[in-house]
Amino acid sequence: MEYVLYIIIAYLLGSIPSGLIVGKAGYGKDIREHGSGNLGGTNTFRVLGIKAGLIVTTADILKGTAAAALPYFAGADVIPLVVGIFAVVGHMYPIFANFKGGKAVATSGGVILGVNPVIFIILILSFFIILYFSKYVSLSSMVSGIIGIIATLIVEDYGLTLIITLFTIFVIYRHRSNIKRIINKTEPKITWM
Ligand code: G3P
Repeated sequence: MEYVLYIIIAYLLGSIPSGLIVGKAGYGKDIREHGSGNLGGTNTFRVLGIKAGLIVTTADILKGTAAAALPYFAGADVIPLVVGIFAVVGHMYPIFANFKGGKAVATSGGVILGVNPVIFIILILSFFIILYFSKYVSLSSMVSGIIGIIATLIVEDYGLTLIITLFTIFVIYRHRSNIKRIINKTEPKITWM
């Protein structure tokens, strides 16, 4: 029963559509109607600017961290990583936003932050190194997931390997349109780095 409770809480936390809330409340804009149409941090940066982008990315990360940390602090007999999966599912398919959510990157990172901050730092560093060279946020998101898998294999944290593999599959699946644009050379590159 504990699993059901924490899975529901995680799904509801993940479903909080921060991009929609910040866009509509602070700027009177639905970011799903602008830019890439994605309800995530990158599109918030693109459509609403740096302040809103930082707020939404941070909120999307913390949804995952909270979902994974909550059962840990409550002393619940559940595996935080397993519960965390449902925060990512909520972020991708949010009940509060017609099941049209983000691409799993920030919330997956947040779950990992909640269970292994060192791997989270490795993910962030790889993300920015790949971003520096490629200028593609989408590519950096996907490849840093693969680097995360390798990092967990090196430190022999095989439970985390399984979960990061699942998260990376989610991330790649949700970036299908980005992959097509990268191949067609129509994916937008960042200009600030
Ligand atoms: O986190 C999502 C990012 O990797 C791509 O977002 O808006 O460029 O499709 P977007």
